[in-house]
Amino acid sequence: MVETPRAKARSAAPAPPTTAFSERVRACFSGAAPQYEGSARIQRAIAWRLGHLCQPLAIGPGPRADLGAGTGLLARSIAQHRPDLNLLRLDNCQALLETDPPEAGGSERLLWDLNLGLPAQLAGASLLASSFALQWLEQPRLQLDQWASQLARGGWLVLAVPCAASFQQWRQAAELANVPFTGLALPQASDLINAAERQLKLLRCQRLRFSRRRPQALAFLRELKAIGAQASPTGQLSPAELRRLQTHWTPSPLDCPLEWEVLLLLARKP
Ligand SMILES: C[S@@+](CC[C@H](N)C(=O)[O-])C[C@H]1O[C@@H](n2cnc3c(N)ncnc32)[C@H](O)[C@@H]1O
Repeated sequence: MVETPRAKARSAAPAPPTTAFSERVRACFSGAAPQYEGSARIQRAIAWRLGHLCQPLAIGPGPRADLGAGTGLLARSIAQHRPDLNLLRLDNCQALLETDPPEAGGSERLLWDLNLGLPAQLAGASLLASSFALQWLEQPRLQLDQWASQLARGGWLVLAVPCAASFQQWRQAAELANVPFTGLALPQASDLINAAERQLKLLRCQRLRFSRRRPQALAFLRELKAIGAQASPTGQLSPAELRRLQTHWTPSPLDCPLEWEVLLLLARKP
């Protein structure tokens, strides 16, 4: 079934958010839906890179999906590099699923909470792609296990996920300011690599490192908010704590802290 980009996302089964935090994540992404694409610079670059990786792959029949697809940056990038591939876009945020530039082709969308695992229709998948989404799930490693087990023999996993070494400047400033680090607890890259290796043959396994010095704590936090990525299980800082964070947000001019550690995996089920 192919739906037009403007059509409402279809729900295969009622997929209520599994926890209050999942609901908060969804609300934050919903609020950012109108400006997501204009602000998601690193996500766009990674989507392009993953799409490029898909170009030479021999992909069999069977379901293909972009997991945590959001506005479809990755699904569209894959379709640009491989016009023969039209991925089902899964996400639990309807507002993001329905946001699409007019030139986008119509691909099927499914409103689905990935904390519940994958829907039955993805059993025997020939391609599971996901970018910047796995870290939002409650148990990223467990879900990755399940994604790998849903692949058909010869099926591909194409994955990018930010990992625990990210946000150095933020962590350092929070420690110096003696305020909680309110970022998401990102998964350890080594854990995800181990999980993937248990079932899949890794053809590419890279830890991409993006470093950037940010002069202002508030500007940095606003950038996260612009893409809806501000939800935090540890809550928000008070205005006084934010001021303290800003005061300590001053790395030496020579120091260029790691902003993103992104694990990139291309793997195949033997
Ligand atoms: C940073 S965005 C990335 C979107 C897209 N993959 C990209 O690269 O632009 C994270 C996405 O994960 C989705 N997400 C978070 N938790 C989810 C869940 N439990 N089930 C399904 N999608 C989820 C969000 O709605 C959002 O679309």
